[in-house]
Amino acid sequence: MAKMMPHTHIIGTGSSIPKRILSNKDLEGIVDTTDEWIIQRTGIKERRISVKGERESTTDLTTQASVKAIEMASISPKSLDMIVVGTVTGDRMFPSTACMVQEALNAENAMAFDVSAGCTGFLYALSMADNAIQCGTCKNALVVGVDRLSSVVNWQDRGTCVLLADGAGAVVVTSATEQGGILSTHLKSDGKLWELLYSSDGNNHIPKILQGIDIKPFHLRMDGNRLFKRAVGYLSSIANEALEHNSLTIKDIGLLVPHQANIRIIKAVSKNLYIPMERVYTNIHRYGNTSSASIPIALDEANRENMLSKGDHVLFVSFGAGLTWGASIVRWSI
Ligand code: ACO
Repeated sequence: MAKMMPHTHIIGTGSSIPKRILSNKDLEGIVDTTDEWIIQRTGIKERRISVKGERESTTDLTTQASVKAIEMASISPKSLDMIVVGTVTGDRMFPSTACMVQEALNAENAMAFDVSAGCTGFLYALSMADNAIQCGTCKNALVVGVDRLSSVVNWQDRGTCVLLADGAGAVVVTSATEQGGILSTHLKSDGKLWELLYSSDGNNHIPKILQGIDIKPFHLRMDGNRLFKRAVGYLSSIANEALEHNSLTIKDIGLLVPHQANIRIIKAVSKNLYIPMERVYTNIHRYGNTSSASIPIALDEANRENMLSKGDHVLFVSFGAGLTWGASIVRWSI
């Protein structure tokens, strides 16, 4: 008899964001911008920035989000076989954030590694865990998306510094025979487009009101205009690919949880997919673009706000540096 493939179910979610709020008004004192321009062109009203000495390093934020997800999942950290973290802003070049968090959690039985896929890092990480569970190499996995883009922002570049922010989101997934959970994940990349968003050497200037933030010796460069157009097209087509693969239509999707990069991108994708904004989760006005963390933070909030019921289909879509992009459909099972 053919062996039944296990299914990967999300059984816990958690998130952690820094305490320090950086408002659009604060940014008016840093670069030549206005609250009105930022809200109209991006939908962002404020964002969170991690500060040194506040236990808000990449490892700290990851650990805090993971503890909440593990608590919800009601498992012991020792029962985790895998920790996979999507990030491009780990505290160190090596070891991985996943290994640092393994120590913090006492998750001594897990293999631990990071995935670098820009803002799509969480979906890439989720897919790694899903594959390991389906292959039977893993029963319980912790999947995290975390970034501290404040550490790679060029605070003199008004085209990027108003967008980017810090945070972490986590899920615990487990192997089960029951149908549902992650139905499929679809990942793409196109290295020919790396120049649309990349890190560049350079000493970063720290504005006065942000003294005390942790800055890396390189910063982010972005061609926002070209990225915007690609993002709308790629997110719409990858969402349709995921729907077709599962013989679903957009009417079957209870909640779309997109990467939170720009409210105009999200609205354009919702229009292309014919899904009303009432069924699209957004928190970009409060957190800005938290990169790999944006989907798991939004998912955790939607979950804790009781917006998801057992059996609902949730569609994730994301894009980021690489370029990378992806989609995943989950039949909710908590
Ligand atoms: N305040 C005021 N004016 C600004 C600002 C600002 N913060 N930023 C740019 N402008 C100006 C520009 O200089 C330009 O002025 P000009 O006409 O005199 O030359 C004008 O506004 C229009 O600039 P555009 O770049 O055309 O503005 P656009 O409407 O495209 O918005 C934005 C820019 C918000 C960056 C948009 O292109 C965008 O969101 N792109 C996608 C970015 C993205 O998704 N990045 C993340 C992907 S990966 C990840 O998540 C890390």
